[in-house]
Amino acid sequence: MSRTSIIGTGSYAPAKVLTNRDLEKRVQTSDEWIVERTGIRERRVAADDEAASDLALAAALPALELASTRADELDLIVVGTISADMPMPSCAAFLQAKLGATKAFAFDVSAACAGSIYALSIADQFIRSGTARRALVVGVEVLTRIVDWEDRNTCILFGDGAGAAVLGPSADPDRGLLSAHLHSDGRAAPMLWIPGGGSKTPLTHEGLDQKLNKVAMNGKEVFKYAVRALTDVSHEALAANGLTAAQLDHVIAHQANIRIIDAVLQRIGVPREKCWLNIEKYGNTSSASLPMSLDEANRAGKLRPGDLVLMLAIGAGLAWGGAVVRW
Ligand code: UT7
Repeated sequence: MSRTSIIGTGSYAPAKVLTNRDLEKRVQTSDEWIVERTGIRERRVAADDEAASDLALAAALPALELASTRADELDLIVVGTISADMPMPSCAAFLQAKLGATKAFAFDVSAACAGSIYALSIADQFIRSGTARRALVVGVEVLTRIVDWEDRNTCILFGDGAGAAVLGPSADPDRGLLSAHLHSDGRAAPMLWIPGGGSKTPLTHEGLDQKLNKVAMNGKEVFKYAVRALTDVSHEALAANGLTAAQLDHVIAHQANIRIIDAVLQRIGVPREKCWLNIEKYGNTSSASLPMSLDEANRAGKLRPGDLVLMLAIGAGLAWGGAVVRW
């Protein structure tokens, strides 16, 4: 079986910038606190007429261009998102229509901030089995529509964006996705969830008043879990490929909190310079964060053929994963 290569990447961040200073006017917080505790200085907010599939389209087009792939050549579209255009159908369905990717079957993956690493791993299975020759993987979120703008524990963290990658079989058997390692712990679900609006608690006027349709999080617990889980999965991914951390050229990590990233890097023994960081500009864009970072690093010319890249992400579920790619 051939490996899967990432043959094109793209990303999109909405134009509107919301700074920490802007947030000081909404909740009891300060630029200093947010920068020190999270590393975030500003985040992007989608325009009123932008839905998740619009952001996804804006990330997918440059990815397809870089991959010299036409939309109608795509066999498969997998979108990681928890803020799709509507509960049904999937964001991927709208994206497929907007792209004109008539041949592709398309679906969403619900793994929150781990959505794009889950999507990558799923698409990889189709490519390696020969079922698909071209796959589009997208992570997209419009989280600013589902955060409680009065909750300083969460509203300072999140932003909107999209990242995309086009996958195909690798021409070189030594290059491409070497392995992906996915994990879940549903017992930790209450640490980070949107409790209302689903079949358990359908939304009522009362539920809306209680903001049950907004993100609720125990940040401290998620923080501790994230450091532990991402460290463990890094070791697992390295060991599976007989690699040491010193051999890694890059870490592309979900940007949730600079202190989580630093703690994981320190525990696995990788210097910060090897990790692409953009949390300062975008905050936590959930499933978009990993492919946005990958695209930025790629377009900055950081990823050279043969480089070893460790990808890491964790989010609600809890769900997390690590993957190793030889670029
Ligand atoms: O995408 C994956 C999922 N999410 C994450 O990975 C997020 C993980 N968690 C975190 O990033 C951090 O836990 C936070 C950034 C959310 C919070 O940072 P922390 O250092 O864990 O702060 P804390 O929750 O322990 O709060 C410390 C203090 C509290 O005050 P008291 O109780 O000590 O008086 C909070 O009320 O900071 C207060 N606080 C704030 N102060 C100013 C909490 N949020 C804010 C705020 N501005 N925005």
